Amino acid sequence: MIHSRIAGTGSYLPERVLTNADLERMVDTSDQWIVERTGIRRRHLAAEGQSTCDLAEQAARRALEAAGVTAADIDLVIVATTTPDRVFPSTACLLQERLEIHGCPAFDVQAVCTGFVYALDVAHRFIRTGGARRALVVGAETMSRIVDWSDRSTCILFGDGAGAVVLEAADEAGILSTHLHADGSYKELLTTDGGVSEPPPEGGQPHIRMSGNEVFKIAVKTLGAIVDETLAANGLEQGVVDWLVPHQANIRIIQATARKLKLPMERVIVTIEDQGNTSAASIPLALDTAVRDGRIRRGETLLLEAFGGGFTWGSALLVY
Ligand code: ACO
Repeated sequence: MIHSRIAGTGSYLPERVLTNADLERMVDTSDQWIVERTGIRRRHLAAEGQSTCDLAEQAARRALEAAGVTAADIDLVIVATTTPDRVFPSTACLLQERLEIHGCPAFDVQAVCTGFVYALDVAHRFIRTGGARRALVVGAETMSRIVDWSDRSTCILFGDGAGAVVLEAADEAGILSTHLHADGSYKELLTTDGGVSEPPPEGGQPHIRMSGNEVFKIAVKTLGAIVDETLAANGLEQGVVDWLVPHQANIRIIQATARKLKLPMERVIVTIEDQGNTSAASIPLALDTAVRDGRIRRGETLLLEAFGGGFTWGSALLVY
């Protein structure tokens, strides 16, 4: 059987940092409220003119370097994003052109904050069935472009960034299981107020709208259930996973999932304090951070999980 494993990781955060103190000057909020309710202290924002593909390219180049391969070795490009540069071509096609690779399939996946888990699952299935040998899987976002900077309930949460992995065919298991879910009946709890064929009521860019407290409760419950589903599918007990690499939406959601896994917070990769919620970019950003600082090592078992707009949710259990 053909397996798939992560050969290298990379990430990129734009230079500009927006702190909670900066937000105090923009909306009626406080550093204390933001830290207590979310765990976020600062987030990075793309510079004017810096696009999602710009961030994706930096992360992708770093992942290629870490994997010890060149762009020419890639035969599949998938970008998970909710904030593509253009309606079309896909950000994956724009990235493919930047990397000067031509001909291989390239497409975007849109599952909001669960996007990277969805994209990893798709790449894994391509590799397992022989449709690709080496995939570039990227999560990249410029969430700042769809944030309503006058809405204190959402503008404090989001940041920009990108993360990437090279996933390649291997003889030994890397990805052990993936589980994906969605339920569109929750569409109004976490959405944008318009898009392309349904323009925003006031024109201009669409903006994020979220019933935060309701989303919070469902996220905690749903992520608990996907932990159970993932462990059961792999015949594993709680407490045996080496690292939890969660989507970074809220420190209290992450803590609840860690409790469900019976993992101490020392075994959880948390980047939310410095990055906020970067949607599809947050898991590969967290993964790359912990690989590069030496916490995550080869042979360790990782649980990746995410919950986001749709609702969508998913997990990937893998041996790094
Ligand atoms: N500063 C100060 N007060 C605030 C702020 C703020 N930035 N935002 C809201 N408040 C107030 C509210 O107005 C409310 O005041 P009231 O009691 O007078 O009405 C009070 O704080 C409590 O508001 P809640 O919304 O109940 O606060 P909660 O504890 O739920 O925290 C938060 C809000 C942080 C948004 C939380 O609900 C959350 O993290 N939700 C889940 C987000 C998530 O997981 N999203 C999924 C991924 S995102 C994606 O897919 C795009």
